[in-house]
Amino acid sequence: KSVVKVAILGLGTVGSGVAKLLLENNQNINQKIDNEVKLVKVLDKDLTREREVDIPAEMMTDNPEDILSNPEIDVVVETIGGVGPAKELVTEALEVKKNVVTANKEMVAKYGSELLELSDENGVDFYFEASVGGGIPIIRSLKESLTANRIQEVMGIVNGTTNYILTKMIQEGAKFEDVLAEAQQKGYAEPDPTADIEGYDAAYKLSILSAIAFGSPVDVDDIHLEGISDIKQEDITYAKELGYVIKLLAIGKEADGEIEVRVHPTMIPNEHPLAAVNNVFNAVFVKGHAVGELMYYGRGAGSMPTGSAIVADVMDIARNINYRANNRISCSCYEDKDIKPMFD
Ligand code: HSE
Repeated sequence: KSVVKVAILGLGTVGSGVAKLLLENNQNINQKIDNEVKLVKVLDKDLTREREVDIPAEMMTDNPEDILSNPEIDVVVETIGGVGPAKELVTEALEVKKNVVTANKEMVAKYGSELLELSDENGVDFYFEASVGGGIPIIRSLKESLTANRIQEVMGIVNGTTNYILTKMIQEGAKFEDVLAEAQQKGYAEPDPTADIEGYDAAYKLSILSAIAFGSPVDVDDIHLEGISDIKQEDITYAKELGYVIKLLAIGKEADGEIEVRVHPTMIPNEHPLAAVNNVFNAVFVKGHAVGELMYYGRGAGSMPTGSAIVADVMDIARNINYRANNRISCSCYEDKDIKPMFD
């Protein structure tokens, strides 16, 4: 079996989940592919901090060049988040012909087109399943399983932190600040939780979903955006009396060639399936002209759910490497020639 060597850039909540899965579920993972994936290097800015996962000391580095300049490394997993320095490191990785997997919604929403083009030019893969919906396989579903459809609508709860906050405010009358602190402690929130609270995180995810679903570019700045910072306990109580819950929804619709994209708090009737999506769970509704309505549901944030999506991408890349090595045509959906124009 040939060995596909993997490195992780960033050992926060998500990076730790990826390392844990690759190290602790390695045998099971390698049974499902013809080659073998092996974690060989992990970048962390602070090598002295306590780790959630037991990583051999010789695997650790605080110098990205130990990864980018190492010709043996085939796949770089970027779990730093945000645009800088993540985008620079991902660009460099693609330029030196390393495959890249990322969970970075901001970077994909803003630079997805550029990075996909770069990966194409260098004959490597750039995958980002984990950038939307944590562990929910929504990107692959839109690209593969639903590819025969004209997608008319993609809508849902795509931010775990705000859903956690709203759930606790609705069910327990908890205070906004207290629940936010809890969400941060559980590793759901962004380093700057304003991105969650004010809806930017949901907007990045909607931009990615819409680009793939509708085959058309969606600039984050064109998304109508309203977060949950103005939601008061009174609003929640009032909605409850009327038989509604308040949820932060991301909505993308296509009608007559026009795309409507918005993120805002929405009153949802108690009997609607989205009203039952609580805590860190996310749900994405998709409406295709042939398939009709579908709903995807699962944990939208957190170490292991996000790690699950990332490692699946790594395994897909390992399969592609194997196909290429054996001169077979890749089965990967990301190889489709039409993905790039979706981000142009
Ligand atoms: N802060 C994000 C959320 C993490 O709460 O959904 C997952 O993208």
